[in-house]
Amino acid sequence: MNRKYWETMAPKYDDEIFDVLRNDSSGKIVTAIEKISSKKKTVIDIGCAIGKWIPLLATQFKEVQAADISAINLQIAKEKYRHFKNVEYLRMDMSAAKLKVSPCDAAICINAILTDSLKKRINFFQSLSLSLKKGGHLVLVVPSLESKLYTNIIAHRWNVDGDHKEKIASSKKAFELAKNIKQGVTDIDNVPTKHYLKEELELLLSLEGFKVQAIEKINYTWKTEFNNPPKWLKSPYPWDWMCVAKKNK
Ligand SMILES: C[S@@+](CC[C@H](N)C(=O)[O-])C[C@H]1O[C@@H](n2cnc3c(N)ncnc32)[C@H](O)[C@@H]1O
Repeated sequence: MNRKYWETMAPKYDDEIFDVLRNDSSGKIVTAIEKISSKKKTVIDIGCAIGKWIPLLATQFKEVQAADISAINLQIAKEKYRHFKNVEYLRMDMSAAKLKVSPCDAAICINAILTDSLKKRINFFQSLSLSLKKGGHLVLVVPSLESKLYTNIIAHRWNVDGDHKEKIASSKKAFELAKNIKQGVTDIDNVPTKHYLKEELELLLSLEGFKVQAIEKINYTWKTEFNNPPKWLKSPYPWDWMCVAKKNK
């Protein structure tokens, strides 16, 4: 999942990439953002893609930095939201070893730290910290490893969507899958994607100088995981982790 991948995805973004804003029917993420917002504050949207959160951010904050590694994504966002005059579009690689950024009062980062590369994730978490002023708040959403394993267990136990017919293409792929899962990396649409444990997320943020204030599940319907979920399959629903954290140092 490098820059090339995201540039290729950009033109078909709406068809290919899961829309967290639309699928969070609880509105918990919007509420968390509204709680940290102020017309006196600046905010950075890290991994903004085609800008789904821009209307909310541009109306709740004084200034918005919309940052993404993909120039095409940023161009799409810029054209769509040209009527918001307080948004600056910045091409940035948050996984780069060195980052030039003007720290903001608040930051959001919604399902952007997905790379299977540990080195890139370490840099990305450092960049989260560099992007915020001391005392600033972060709203971070990441895929949940617990949810993914729960989904896999259900798929296998009740053969959902023909799970028993699934074949692993080669022994090389089997080795890769086994190696990845030990690190919380598991495929979404055949793309190795980092998923996080709740405890892991707390640790990673505290190591970057954040005080975690809340971690909550963002629940989705079973239709987001299965084409044909069993009718009896209800709560607990699949989820992402949303974390609200304050930068202490
Ligand atoms: C799944 S999309 C999420 C988009 C958006 N936050 C949302 O909720 O609709 C992930 C985005 O993160 C961006 N991204 C991935 N790695 C990045 C990096 N190293 N630096 C900046 N942006 C990155 C991708 O280009 C992509 O637009």
